[in-house]
Amino acid sequence: MAEDATAKLGDVQIDEDTETQRIDPWTVSASKAVNYDKLIAEFGSNKIDSALIERFERVTGRKSHVFLRRGLFFSHRELDQILTLHENKKPFYLYTGRGPSSGALHIGHLIPFLFTKWLQEAFDVPLIVQMTDDEKFLWRDISLDELEKITISNIKDILACGFDIEKTFIFSDLDIMAQSRAFNRTVLKVRKCITFNQVKGIFGFGESDNIGKISFPAIQATPSFSASFPQIFGNAKNVKCLIPCAIDQDPYFRMTRDVAPRLGFVKPALIHSQFLPALQGAQTKMSASDLNSSIYLSDTPNMIKKKINKYAYSGGRDTIEEHRKYGGDCSVDISYQFLKFFLEDDDELAKIEKEYSSGEMLSGELKKRLIQILQGIVKTHQEKRSQITDDIAREFMRPRKLKYTY
Ligand code: TRP
Repeated sequence: MAEDATAKLGDVQIDEDTETQRIDPWTVSASKAVNYDKLIAEFGSNKIDSALIERFERVTGRKSHVFLRRGLFFSHRELDQILTLHENKKPFYLYTGRGPSSGALHIGHLIPFLFTKWLQEAFDVPLIVQMTDDEKFLWRDISLDELEKITISNIKDILACGFDIEKTFIFSDLDIMAQSRAFNRTVLKVRKCITFNQVKGIFGFGESDNIGKISFPAIQATPSFSASFPQIFGNAKNVKCLIPCAIDQDPYFRMTRDVAPRLGFVKPALIHSQFLPALQGAQTKMSASDLNSSIYLSDTPNMIKKKINKYAYSGGRDTIEEHRKYGGDCSVDISYQFLKFFLEDDDELAKIEKEYSSGEMLSGELKKRLIQILQGIVKTHQEKRSQITDDIAREFMRPRKLKYTY
């Protein structure tokens, strides 16, 4: 399917039976569960099929990550080209990012970073992480002073995922715009290529949006081009980039891929994830602003237990008798969906699915297993995060050559 950077976002009528969904960088809502196949069709990306996953495993010599083999990362652009580069021992790099937000991150925020960390290991390539403090300043009611604190705190959470310090550069937009002429040059080139009409079409900006927002997409596009980082890439020109991100960020990168050839840059490749659903159900994603929809990385074991037991939408039946008779519905059960992403053991997951669907396993038992797993993940995260000192964070943020041969 043709890629169309000007495809209009908004409420898309996707089915005769009034199923609607709205997915863009600021909104994830659907009348039913988010329909990801329709999203692929609408955005013009490609589905990650079993043949591509097999090739991935062959080329990297590793069993694919659960997020990949269980369909959480489900869509891509030019991932096949990245695999070919890796096969031929040609260079490329990873780029991802995060808009710094209020104190604690939730487990949904970890997904792209856990996966990126695995990609960094599997490919052994450099990684660039953009913290869009400017974006949050322009979109949210938050002061620059506050953002400074939040950004460093978010950076520590990200680094707790275990990135390689010799191969990872993490930066804030406010810093890099003050430090790097090369970065600024790319920003300017991108801005010159895009009209107000285009961003209006892609992002739905209006006449009364502040002008900072209107030019922001150029800033998110810029790290996709290696020329923006001479300190990292030296003389290596036009190194291709692979961007792991949630599918809602795709509009930025459709635009980026659109302008790339006009600037003489290679297009970035992409690998898209679905969203971690809110505890209440798959109509929307986990949201940092709804305390009860999320499991935070700062939650205590008891809070995790309470939230899962109280809020995780259950596909179980109303009474034990009915449940034993008809079985639970894994396709809507949030605890099952979470296990699909966080329980690594394929055999155990298959067993749970079988027993829950047949009614042998009750909702409370399913939740109990999920609670254990999430408590473990959050505890490990907290331990790792406590080891990230300010000095370590600063070293990751220092512009420098990353260990890699081009
Ligand atoms: N806009 C993203 C957010 O709000 C942050 C971001 C910047 C990003 N560059 C990225 C996300 C590249 C994924 C990939 O979180």
